[in-house]
Amino acid sequence: MRPLVIAHRGASGYLPEHTLAAKGLAHDMGADYLEQDIVASRDGELIVLHDIYLDRVTDVAKRFPGRKRSDGRYYVHDFDLQELRSLTVWERMNQDGSPVYPERYPARSGDFKLNTLREELDFIHRLNDETGRRAGIYPEIKRPAWHKGQGIDIAPQLLDLLADSGYESRDDPVFVQCFDDAELRRLKHELHCPFQLVQLIGDNSWREADTDYDWLRSAAGIKQLAQTVDAIGPAISDLYELAEIDAVPVATGLVQLAHEAGLAVHPYTFRADDIPAGFASFAELVRYFAVDIGVDGVFTDFPDQVLQISLP
Ligand code: G3P
Ligand code: CA
Repeated sequence: MRPLVIAHRGASGYLPEHTLAAKGLAHDMGADYLEQDIVASRDGELIVLHDIYLDRVTDVAKRFPGRKRSDGRYYVHDFDLQELRSLTVWERMNQDGSPVYPERYPARSGDFKLNTLREELDFIHRLNDETGRRAGIYPEIKRPAWHKGQGIDIAPQLLDLLADSGYESRDDPVFVQCFDDAELRRLKHELHCPFQLVQLIGDNSWREADTDYDWLRSAAGIKQLAQTVDAIGPAISDLYELAEIDAVPVATGLVQLAHEAGLAVHPYTFRADDIPAGFASFAELVRYFAVDIGVDGVFTDFPDQVLQISLP
């Protein structure tokens, strides 16, 4: 069966990530789900943006040169919505200003804007209504513990907004994802989140959350996760390794472990312009994960290319 195609930050291989243009394009391409990373502004608005920082994807340094913190970064949380709206969104840059993906949308160009989660949900509803094709949503609560330290609690706000937008039950096409396992337990058991939950699995060195991902990948960790979540979202590299002799991909067994525990597996991130070691083409990569490993969904910057690949 074809895995779910989750447009990672929209069709971000073609247009700057998390812009409404990137979401509209992903919808038009036929993505099953559109992803929203969520952070919060100083005045408590939920903003669709991947980082708690603004400097890698906007012109904030030019517009507000005096507003960086002592670490040199510009934080979304230090700006009100009105100020955020005045920024221009650009294709993602490295720290030195060079483009992360040089072949993508031209660096520092275009007239794209940030949007709130409410605006994006309204936009998706409109696209769904106009086309008759209901794309799902896949919100991620970014850095919940850090936000609480700044006085913002995203999870209850997110659930209120989803309810207000007409999402109300497990039958609705909504996955709520987070790297923080404690926040997912809270969503399930305290906040009674009605939607499917996804535990993202990263590397402990990223310090995304106070979560031990090495343990979560173990048999005991997966078994415990199954009491809270419906799926895991590991990195592609968690699911295969290269054989020592002929360097062919060999499954690590994490997908099998998850499936035996009743969990779906939605790995990130499938990029046609950044193919990992062991695969000769994007089609070979996607076929290996969809068919040989049997994942249930894929986060991709290129939803159209995943959908064009023929699968048995
Ligand atoms: O949420 C799935 C994937 O997007 C996780 O990585 O860093 O792109 O949010 P990130
Ligand atoms: Ca994400």
